Amino acid sequence: MLEKLKDILQRARQDIERASDLDALDEIKRKYLGRSKGELTALSKKLGSLPKEERPTAGRLVNEAKKEITSKLKSLADKFSKSDALLEHGRLKSSVDPSLPGRTRAYGRLHPITQVMSEICQVFQVMGFSIADGPEVEEDFYNFEALNIPPDHPARDMQDTFYIEEDKILLRTHTSPIQIRAMKTMSPPVRIVAPGKVYRCDSDVTHTPMFHQVEGLMVDKNVSFSQLKGTLTQFIHRMFEPSTKVRFRPSYFPFTEPSAEVDIQCVKCHGAGCRLCGHTGWMEVLGAGMVHPAVFRNVGYDPDEISGFAFGLGVERIAMLKYSIDDIRLFYDNDIRFLDQF
Ligand code: PHE
Repeated sequence: MLEKLKDILQRARQDIERASDLDALDEIKRKYLGRSKGELTALSKKLGSLPKEERPTAGRLVNEAKKEITSKLKSLADKFSKSDALLEHGRLKSSVDPSLPGRTRAYGRLHPITQVMSEICQVFQVMGFSIADGPEVEEDFYNFEALNIPPDHPARDMQDTFYIEEDKILLRTHTSPIQIRAMKTMSPPVRIVAPGKVYRCDSDVTHTPMFHQVEGLMVDKNVSFSQLKGTLTQFIHRMFEPSTKVRFRPSYFPFTEPSAEVDIQCVKCHGAGCRLCGHTGWMEVLGAGMVHPAVFRNVGYDPDEISGFAFGLGVERIAMLKYSIDDIRLFYDNDIRFLDQF
């Protein structure tokens, strides 16, 4: 009997030492102290069959064994449930909750007009043009006078000018004054493109009071109209599909002769007519022509020695065609849902 008790106690101690969670402790309790199948319980039931004089000692030993196992199980159970609670607590308090969706970072980007404008400039840079610049607040001389538009010329009515100082200082109505500034500081050959903001007192679905142009100027010996056509057609084929149809219409500008307006076939309806192209199938994207001899004389060039072509293209128009946008004002509403798409 005592041997048996020793054996049970030893195994119970081992089991307790190996236990690592509350479930294991329950299992040990059932194995040794369980009412029906506990080994120690079974042993204590046999006490009655011992000789009378052995009973008190054996009874005491069995009781001590029960006490030891019970108290060890209890202190371990306390320890385990405490660390369980700690774990649970940690999970609730922790700043890292892996079940939450990630935080996305908002990235800034260039405005679609800025993107298209630099793309336009790149196409011309590849063809050998360099970038020129000029002021947005301009003198009447550069914006009109030097471009062969004298004070009473009807062409001034074509462009509704914002004046800062009457008849002297204005917001440039086109990028053409940069042609004059470039020619005044360089001698031929000149090959420049000049991107920038321009201002006209005008507003509807295809016009805003401020918009963007890219001016182009090429001056050298023997520059011809066919070179102008070739350059612009090449540009449009690189900006849009290489199969895009281009149309040159005779037109008038005081600073070019002959002059042309250039249309490209509507990229949305392919000529059938839609809201984007005003149901004409075409969209005007630029003005161009051979530099007028009077302009050359105004900057001190000799028109008998050299010739040149110039063009001015509307960046918003090109962007509208490129992305099938039928209201120019979308570019300036600053609705992030619109701007995010570029
Ligand atoms: N400056 C003209 C405009 O704004 C465009 C143009 C530029 C035409 C150069 C011919 C040559 O309408």
